[in-house]
Amino acid sequence: MLRRIAVLFVTFTFIACSFGSEVATGTNGIVASVNDIATRAGIDAMKRGGNAVDAAVATALTLGVVDGYNSGIGGGCFILIRRSNGKFLAIDGREMAPAAATHDMFIRNGKGDTELSQTGPLACGVPGALAAYDLALRKAGKLSLRDHLLYAAQIADDGFQMDSGYAHTLQHTADDLKKFDGSRAVYFKADGSAYQKGDLFRQSDLANTYRQVAKHGLKYFYGGPFAQATETWMKRNGGIMTVRDLSNYKSILREPISTMYRGYEVVSFPPPSSGGVHLLEMLNILETKDLKVLGAGTADSLHLIAESMKLAFADRAFWLGDPDFVEVPRGLVSKDYAHKLAAKIDMQHTIKVEHGTPDDASENVFRKHTTHFSTADCEGNWVACTATVNTSFGSKVVIPGTGVVLNDEMDDFSVQPGVANFFGLVGNEANAVAPGKRPLSSMTPTIVLKDGNPMMSLGAAGGPTIISQTLLNIVNVLDFGMPLDKALAAPRIHQQWSPDELRAEKSLSTIAVDGLEERGHKFKFVSGLGVSQAVMRSQDGKSFVGAADPRAGGTARGW
Ligand code: GLY
Repeated sequence: MLRRIAVLFVTFTFIACSFGSEVATGTNGIVASVNDIATRAGIDAMKRGGNAVDAAVATALTLGVVDGYNSGIGGGCFILIRRSNGKFLAIDGREMAPAAATHDMFIRNGKGDTELSQTGPLACGVPGALAAYDLALRKAGKLSLRDHLLYAAQIADDGFQMDSGYAHTLQHTADDLKKFDGSRAVYFKADGSAYQKGDLFRQSDLANTYRQVAKHGLKYFYGGPFAQATETWMKRNGGIMTVRDLSNYKSILREPISTMYRGYEVVSFPPPSSGGVHLLEMLNILETKDLKVLGAGTADSLHLIAESMKLAFADRAFWLGDPDFVEVPRGLVSKDYAHKLAAKIDMQHTIKVEHGTPDDASENVFRKHTTHFSTADCEGNWVACTATVNTSFGSKVVIPGTGVVLNDEMDDFSVQPGVANFFGLVGNEANAVAPGKRPLSSMTPTIVLKDGNPMMSLGAAGGPTIISQTLLNIVNVLDFGMPLDKALAAPRIHQQWSPDELRAEKSLSTIAVDGLEERGHKFKFVSGLGVSQAVMRSQDGKSFVGAADPRAGGTARGW
């Protein structure tokens, strides 16, 4: 009874201060990102003659300046582009394990040591974001990488007022950041204190790196002075990344994956994203039932969604890895397989789940803290891009003199079967470390089409909750008919199979919570589950609508 009263209290508290909505419209183009300076950079790129791809790259490079603890050129990204000619590009800028990486590199005294995979030199994968932005522009942009780099370099030089989110994250990470000279020089003042909310935060080293790449091209980063500085630092500090690792890095064009969901085509990112596969797998399961009849936010619909998540995440832990190294069954996204999984769901009780095995699992395989932003333009180009350095400030390492935060994406490998990573995810051999391999990701950049015409671009940040958020946002719009801002603001749940708990936002209705508990769900309440951004075509088809997640300080802007 006490707990119920507590839940009720939390619910009322939430309603009293519920997430406000951030929505924008435009006829020429639209951008939604987690930071207004970056959103404006995207719109400015279109005003300078660029298209939605330019807007995405401008947004990305600016986020690397104003939101560098989430993403940047020291990290990776996945970019899904729908071009005005109707063709899709899926650009894999995921980090890669250095050539000297080994299967057991994070095992000490027989146990996986996630401190090593999350902080310091061994945590860093070879960054891929910059190569991916360059490839996106060469394939589908109108402006040059140079143009976008110089624009963002100016923001880094001029500085910006640190907001509370940045200052808070910096405060929380300060002890680890202080361990590294390069990071101390960027994030702490002369007296040793961290920059605070409201301080003007300038990054002249990062501005210089951007300008040098603008002047000399990608080779400055992938093989030139940046790569040399990285190798020198790594050698001195017990790391393994070399100039050769950086010069060997390639952004890869992958084949997007898709499914039909209630008459809509949902196109998403293939492995090494796990996001696309499991988003499609869950949508296929959900399509076997009538969610609309079950109702938005009810125990029935949430139970069905949570059990679908559990089934998909059990498969993630078993099957998923870099498709260039392991065989990921295509059957995971087949309708037949979804019917088999759906038949296991008991609408009255939670079920115990082990991974399933799609038909022809061995023959039919996929060959070969984060930010999400979406853009679209009136020519018909649509972009969904999710970028990351993994956890806040990645490995916490800034290579001295460069201003570039290196990722800790090595933690997205399964450092040892059964050992949970930062996000509590477990994996097995399919996602074990190997030289040149790309760690499994949950990033889920997705574009939805109706009758061949794009109608929504979306994705999210927040580790494995990315997949759940993207699913919920899609069903909120397509099944429950919510406007985009309401879809993003609606209470979220997340069930990732291990641990077997239902993470839920405190705003979930008491009736739904009671109904789910009766079915056997074990709740873990959180104040907010992730951060999503999305853009859509307006109902009349004449303009765009964009929305930034009300849980964070982002914006959408149109023009
Ligand atoms: N680093 C989080 C992800 O890629 O899933």
